[in-house]
Amino acid sequence: MKSLYDRVAGDVASSIKTGKAINLNNPVSKPRIIELYEDLRWNWPKIKSSLRSKGGNENLSKVRDLMQKEFYQAMAEMIEKINHIDGVFGLNMERSDTANPKVKEYRQLTIQNLQLAIYSEKQQDLKNPTPLHQCKTFQDVEDYLRHECFWLGRLMALNDPPLEPDWFSPPTTCDKWDILPHDIIESPKYQENISKSEFVRVILELLKICLPEGERLRLSHSQPAGGTAGAVPTMGDSFIIAIDFGTAYSGYAFSITPRNKKTEPCVRYWGEKSARETSKTPTCILFDKYKQFVSFGYEAKEAYVSRMGADTKDNLFFESFKMSLYKRKLNLDMKIKATNGKEMKALQVFAEALKCLKEDALSYIAQHTAGKKFTASDFTWVLTVPAIWDHSAKEFMREAATQAGIVTKGKEDKLIIALEPEAASVYCKKLPSDGFIAENLGNVKLDQSPGTQYVVVDCGGGTIDITVHEVLEGGNLKELHKASGNDLGGQTVDRKFKQFLQEIFTGVWDDYEKKFPNEVQKIMYDFTIFKKHLDDVEISCPFNLGKMAERKKKIEKYFKKVQGATWDEGSIKISKEKLRVFFEESLLGISQSIRDIFKKTSKIKYILLVGGYAESEILRHHITDEFAEDCIILCPFRPQEVIMKGAVEFGRNQGVVASRKNPFTYGVGISQKFDKFRHREDKKYTNKDGVWCGDIFMKLVDVGEDVRWNETREHTLYPVEANQKAMSFSFYRTKKKNVAYIDEPDTEEIGSFIVESPDTTLGLNREIRLKIKFGFTEMTATGTDRESGSSQTIRINFMKK
Ligand SMILES: Nc1ncnc2c1ncn2[C@@H]1O[C@H](COP(=O)(O)OP(=O)(O)OP(=O)(O)O)[C@@H](O)[C@H]1O
Ligand SMILES: [Mg+2]
Repeated sequence: MKSLYDRVAGDVASSIKTGKAINLNNPVSKPRIIELYEDLRWNWPKIKSSLRSKGGNENLSKVRDLMQKEFYQAMAEMIEKINHIDGVFGLNMERSDTANPKVKEYRQLTIQNLQLAIYSEKQQDLKNPTPLHQCKTFQDVEDYLRHECFWLGRLMALNDPPLEPDWFSPPTTCDKWDILPHDIIESPKYQENISKSEFVRVILELLKICLPEGERLRLSHSQPAGGTAGAVPTMGDSFIIAIDFGTAYSGYAFSITPRNKKTEPCVRYWGEKSARETSKTPTCILFDKYKQFVSFGYEAKEAYVSRMGADTKDNLFFESFKMSLYKRKLNLDMKIKATNGKEMKALQVFAEALKCLKEDALSYIAQHTAGKKFTASDFTWVLTVPAIWDHSAKEFMREAATQAGIVTKGKEDKLIIALEPEAASVYCKKLPSDGFIAENLGNVKLDQSPGTQYVVVDCGGGTIDITVHEVLEGGNLKELHKASGNDLGGQTVDRKFKQFLQEIFTGVWDDYEKKFPNEVQKIMYDFTIFKKHLDDVEISCPFNLGKMAERKKKIEKYFKKVQGATWDEGSIKISKEKLRVFFEESLLGISQSIRDIFKKTSKIKYILLVGGYAESEILRHHITDEFAEDCIILCPFRPQEVIMKGAVEFGRNQGVVASRKNPFTYGVGISQKFDKFRHREDKKYTNKDGVWCGDIFMKLVDVGEDVRWNETREHTLYPVEANQKAMSFSFYRTKKKNVAYIDEPDTEEIGSFIVESPDTTLGLNREIRLKIKFGFTEMTATGTDRESGSSQTIRINFMKK
């Protein structure tokens, strides 16, 4: 302790000067903390005039956020430290009353010791930024303020009980720059007698809602921290186009009304040339033999189906290619096969398809706005992807969208990746009770029933994609479980049907499919209509199939050995019982995935069926039969459209999904001073500044942890060599909860960058701030060298080259 008293000796002198005594048993006592806070307030007129002159009034809210954030961050870090100290002393809230008084005393001394160490940091002047009077830029003043608030915040948090500025009663002067609260108070949350870890959680919640820069948020007593409608700021522009790029069908919805006007998103309808009106167009794309784009959607499908012979053989026709991104290790050079077996780069195929949708959207909107010309950059774009997709697939789609000219490099924020079932949920939660085909919701909308838990099942062509949401106070949503599902979407039924045709026409079908892929397309196309109801199916047998089959034997004979199909004067008839069999695997897969969720929670009130496949009565009846006893089954009108409509809403307000379950444990590789009791011997290395343990997996976030929308986490890291001029960061992920080293099995590197740190004056004490932004459907990491301001950001590239 003596050395600690020595360290504060300078302050004793200054306290004596000001006539205030210092308590040597606890030099950083509550009165001293109040005094330090008063010093900051004393300086405030100088600080605010400096801020005003250097940054202008528009930075007011930024500065307020910054101060709140630093105080709360300091509070969270210190309470965690206290928790850790308690752990070391074998104390916790439950046992602390009965603990040995000596143990309690040592614990208190340790905390005081920590407080003193922080207190003395300032005297050592090691980490101090430029003093106020030397600050030249707005950034300098901000840094000065950040440092002051964080330092003071840590001292306050270590007081027993913790102190905080009284944010809830801001000063009442006329000067709007008087944003530093007048008083400090004992933390009200701490007084609520909640456990320390719960207290940290509350503080972190407060911290998170302080974080989004540029978005103002006022805390108020009545506002719970957990995401009320007002709590999460809205963002996004008024002009939004949302693309639902599906396995079977794609489409888009848009909004060009100001975001405060609540209008229904507009949907583009397709198929006018072939007397159809559907909200999506087939995700089919045709290229000529030189791999030049020819057509997309209905046009591509019809061009392909109607052409014959050599033309068809040379052209490259792609369908269902979205599934090539499911559960695959991806890279940007990956190739996919057209129906004729020829290959093209997947990225080019995706990019051309997206480009076609983009151009159609811009010209369609122009036609409906008296010819006003728009460019892609006038809009915020939303692109939906299955929730169960890996990050790398989402990243692949972003790259394809960039190549399609939807966004340009440097403007990546204008493209939002949305999760399909989430988007549907966002739309459906606002629907009135009569907005659903199946079952009745009662009189309330979902978003007016806080606490309600429901499952959204997006039944698409390729994937069954499931998310579980709880409605929060105010209508925002919280994800309750990691996204789940499978690849047993509507096309599974098509596949079974095709396999049955293959079975009927054994010895003919394979040859036929090779020779006439376009005719096969047509049969499959016709079959879609029959998936809606459980009725007998009747499909005309294409000319060439009949001809090829007849060459071998009489066509009726093919039907003798199969059950459930008959030949009827040029038509293939399939019984409804057989049709039901085609659905079986898919239906069982869907109900199994839903059942897995019911195993984890018993509070689900609704199942919401969305996606084109949910149009099928067969599917809806199956889910009703299976789950009607457990919950209410809902299906909105036009279930295929709700994904893109919800995606428009999501583009207006990404905070609507207030938190999500994190799918991986993420970490960064670091070194620590070697400790033979904790570290692996083989990880030990020595440099001129010490003995270190390398390859340590420092956790940034745990698998299954709730991550809030737009959440940012910060860590401070230090160099391992006093004269190193750059620091390299490598990021890792694993499905495991407990991981100590980066090279453990099932741990993979997901990205890296290097941050320059040219000024080595502070040696090992240089701080590099690592800021991780989670909570979007992707993740970005930024490393900043505090001294030079040198900074590196990556949207972590999850793709392996
Ligand atoms: N009326 C209907 N009855 C039965 N199935 C239908 C009906 N309408 C569409 N489908 C099926 O729904 C699927 C297409 O739905 P949707 O457009 O939601 O999928 P997608 O978005 O293309 O696929 P994914 O979401 O898996 O990428 C197709 O398998 C189609 O056959
Ligand atoms: Mg879909």
